[in-house]
Amino acid sequence: MASPTTLDAILSLCKRKGFVYQSSEIYGGLNGAWDFGPLGVELLRNIKDAWWKEMTYRPDIVGIDSSILMHPRVWEASGHLQQFSDPMIDNKTSKARHRADTLIEEYANRLRAKGKTDQATRVESALHAAASNEELHAIIVSNAIPDPISGTTDWTEVRNFNLMFKTYVGPVEDVSNTVYLRPETAQGIGIAQIGKSFRNEINTKNFLFRTREFEQMEMQFFVKPGTEVEWFDYWRQARWDWLVNHIGIDPTHLHRKPHEKLAHYAAAAEDIEYLFPFGWGEIEGIHSRTDFDLGKHQEFSGKKLEYVDTVTKDRYTPFVIETAIGATRTFLAVLCDAYAEEEMPTVDGGSETRTVMRLKPSLAPVTAAVLPLVNKDGMPEAADAIMRNLQRSIRVEYDTSGAIGRRYRRQDEVGTPFCVTIDGQTITDSTVTLRERDSMQQTRIHADALTEEIGRRLNG
Ligand code: GAP
Repeated sequence: MASPTTLDAILSLCKRKGFVYQSSEIYGGLNGAWDFGPLGVELLRNIKDAWWKEMTYRPDIVGIDSSILMHPRVWEASGHLQQFSDPMIDNKTSKARHRADTLIEEYANRLRAKGKTDQATRVESALHAAASNEELHAIIVSNAIPDPISGTTDWTEVRNFNLMFKTYVGPVEDVSNTVYLRPETAQGIGIAQIGKSFRNEINTKNFLFRTREFEQMEMQFFVKPGTEVEWFDYWRQARWDWLVNHIGIDPTHLHRKPHEKLAHYAAAAEDIEYLFPFGWGEIEGIHSRTDFDLGKHQEFSGKKLEYVDTVTKDRYTPFVIETAIGATRTFLAVLCDAYAEEEMPTVDGGSETRTVMRLKPSLAPVTAAVLPLVNKDGMPEAADAIMRNLQRSIRVEYDTSGAIGRRYRRQDEVGTPFCVTIDGQTITDSTVTLRERDSMQQTRIHADALTEEIGRRLNG
């Protein structure tokens, strides 16, 4: 099922409304880096808070915040230094660098779009079977796959390009001082952790989907060897349920993708994919990683990382079930899922388009907008008192500019679930109207009951 939302519509709303801006915009921008504006930070924070509560408000998980810069041996032990790379190929004419597998995949997609299904299937099968850079190169050459920019086929060999950003500790830039910005939060061996990760991605694309700086929410759950299958199943279900029930993603826009090729240390792995406007893309991975990470860190550090059961006195290196989700990528999925354009009748019998962000109310950057109908007759003063009262427990925006209908539309567009309107009647009997974003229904309630009523609807 194709999603009707386009990425361009999301991008332009994000920029217009202050969710996300291009990094270093006045200098022409920096690829793969984005700034979160006033509404964006609130939404991102609400997603992270929902994850933190889900993962750490339970007796068997705690959180930590490990440093971004770590001893370089960490990345040797984890295998990132040797293996965390993409196969890259350069076109000698355009000087453009591409991921070799993506180049082949996109070529097969173009063949399929032209109705050359057999040839597309042959190319895809060759890609799935390819086990080395030489084989990827052979597919590109034998199919004369052209560079999308220059149209030529003068390619270099396929080479591995490590995705870790390198820097130096101290003033001397030499090998002994090299450190890496972490490419995942996991190797701090967290338990539960939220934080920035960095990958020198070759192709940053699709807005927040693949960026060079991003945030992850990862958790390692340590289990007794022999119980990993049961815990893997538990976490695949728990993570799906969280996305649906706490983040509000439509389950028909999600699917599970078990890994066909497992890493040598992995016992099982499954991705949860979301149907973005550009197609299915991973948002979370659930991995049963055996004792690979702890085993490697024991070997490289020389320190024991064993668990001793206080009752049975059993001693073992725990197995790990990891859940790894991108906070910024989930933010994009949330926006895509919430965005809707709908036709609405106007008072003069015509119709207009209402853009509405159907965010789960608990995630919305602004919970309620307080709107005095006119800027006189005691309404601003009454509205101000109501706003001060509400903002003790929720995030409130105050808006006095323009016709009330336009103000509702502005709030709909950024996903504000409730609008509180102060009118002439408020001055006489202290009642207000409470408008609900999705149904647009308005109910009249006493101003003193607002906090409780909004709280009830938020948790309902
Ligand atoms: N510790 C395991 C790990 O990092 P991963 O599949 O490489 O696994 C986990 O990353 C999640 O992090 C992905 O599902 C995605 O949501 C997010 N992620 C990874 N690379 C990203 C990038 N370049 N930009 C945005 N999010 C990314």
